[in-house]
Amino acid sequence: MQIREASEADRAALAALHQAAFGAEGAIVAELALTLLDDPSAQPLVALVAETSAGIIGSAIFSAARINGAERLAAAILSPLAVAPAYQRRGVGRTLIEHGISRLREAGVDLVFVLGNPRYYGRYGFRAQHAVSAPYQLAHPDAWMALALRPAALTAASGVLRCADALHKPELW
Ligand SMILES: CC(C)(COP(=O)(O)OP(=O)(O)OC[C@H]1O[C@@H](n2cnc3c(N)ncnc32)[C@H](O)[C@@H]1OP(=O)(O)O)[C@@H](O)C(=O)NCCC(=O)NCCS
Repeated sequence: MQIREASEADRAALAALHQAAFGAEGAIVAELALTLLDDPSAQPLVALVAETSAGIIGSAIFSAARINGAERLAAAILSPLAVAPAYQRRGVGRTLIEHGISRLREAGVDLVFVLGNPRYYGRYGFRAQHAVSAPYQLAHPDAWMALALRPAALTAASGVLRCADALHKPELW
């Protein structure tokens, strides 16, 4: 399996991947993934695909965000993350997250946010104990988590996250 940056030529495969991985929400998430690739406000973007001889089997997109109230911190948000159903539970998601985090760290990003299952993202150090609010009110606040890539980044962070335009839509939260 190879992890590489997503390219324009991957758009159809990315749409199919997200549709397969997200079931009933697949069309909305596929559109989000493709819109993020084109969204200037999502830059700098880390859009990764996991590829085998079978094609693209996973993807993780980390887009830029800022914290209103702590603008000097560089933030990113992971969304969406998808692994093709036939390839789940083999470490593809883990590999994509670890590659993405390592690229963000190299790029000087301080904090990464995610809205997801605490049991899954907790394995990578994401925690709900932080003072940065999501852009919209959440049904499950415990699912709104942050990971500090620089020591003490989280203690300095309080405010409200403003994410890329493509993600700044209440129906996605
Ligand atoms: C969530 C997802 C990306 C995980 O990818 P993956 O390649 O299957 O994950 P990994 O192989 O790296 O890790 C597997 C482990 O995570 C756990 N896991 C997978 N999905 C989980 C979930 N939604 N909640 C909690 N744990 C989960 C598995 O139980 C497994 O643990 P185990 O090895 O102890 O059994 C993938 O299942 C997926 O695409 N799901 C549908 C779309 C989705 O929900 N995306 C995330 C939105 S936040």
